[in-house]
Amino acid sequence: MARPKIALIGAGQIGGTLAHLAAMKELGDVVLFDIAEGIPEGKSLDIAESGPSEGFDAKLKGTQDYADIAGADVCIVTAGVPRKPGMSRDDLLGINLKVMKSVGEGIRDNAPDAFVICITNPLDAMVWALQKFSGLPANKVCGMAGVLDSARFRHFLSLEFGVSMKDVTAFVLGGHGDTMVPSLRYSTVAGIPLPDLIEMGWTTKEKMDAIVQRTRDGGAEIVGLLKTGSAYYAPATSAIEMAEAYLKDQKRVLPCAAHCDGDLGVKDMYVGVPTVIGAGGIEKVVNIKLNKEEQEMFDTSVKAVQGLVEACKGIDSTLA
Ligand code: APR
Repeated sequence: MARPKIALIGAGQIGGTLAHLAAMKELGDVVLFDIAEGIPEGKSLDIAESGPSEGFDAKLKGTQDYADIAGADVCIVTAGVPRKPGMSRDDLLGINLKVMKSVGEGIRDNAPDAFVICITNPLDAMVWALQKFSGLPANKVCGMAGVLDSARFRHFLSLEFGVSMKDVTAFVLGGHGDTMVPSLRYSTVAGIPLPDLIEMGWTTKEKMDAIVQRTRDGGAEIVGLLKTGSAYYAPATSAIEMAEAYLKDQKRVLPCAAHCDGDLGVKDMYVGVPTVIGAGGIEKVVNIKLNKEEQEMFDTSVKAVQGLVEACKGIDSTLA
């Protein structure tokens, strides 16, 4: 059986890291696409040359030609511009919307059967536009945010409790922005929900609130430190987890920006929700019950995403 083909649209910081991880994990052969000449070719060659030492079997190719992504099983999209200090993800909207149009058409014409994972920000609006521009089925197009946001939450919680990150589960809902909703009730240490851990005296509500805020600001914290771009190791690792779930039909329960049409009360929009990812793409949106406070926060987040979607429609009338 031929190896799966993984097309990475955008060969910048995240794209290069994705290519390295996909090759090391032998998820398939990798095509790195970018409009910048030499970058995808250089990164592909560099990673291929790490193969003998690492001992992986994967072909890598860099290209500026969409024809090379033909028949891809997975496309991961990072094309566009990242944030600089002081910018919000929303500030990227105008530039990255145009990029989504060309990428969507490239995928539509060359890899219409792929499972597409968008990472480009502002995530929830960009994945919505990418699905419209590409015309691919909504269950085959999703956005990576929840896995990253919950990984950040899990990391901070593991530091607070002094336990392995493996024993911490965390749940983040809503848009990938300042209004995201990290849920205490649905986050646990070894299955014990955070509110119970507060009651047991292992931590305090104040500490949990501070961690929730640090999670919300997680992307900005890295932008502030790097100064020249945004995070890439954890975003790439998160998207690879999703790609692997699809390629290996793992039926992983992962939070991601999925198309909601009635799910959690959201109509024709992409927003962060718990999903099941397997060979069918987004096989299910898990319709969890929210309490009043969570619902209010989720509604605020959905409203923020809705505002960005409306802005996209204002910029490109074909989306209206
Ligand atoms: N088609 C293909 N590639 C493009 C296009 C396009 N139309 N426009 C820009 N690119 C490429 C750039 O040439 C660059 O190599 O996208 C790449 C983006 O890489 P970086 O600038 O290094 O950005 P990165 O850190 O990888 O983040 C990419 O993901 O998390 C989000 O906010 C982040 O929107 C940003 C995206």
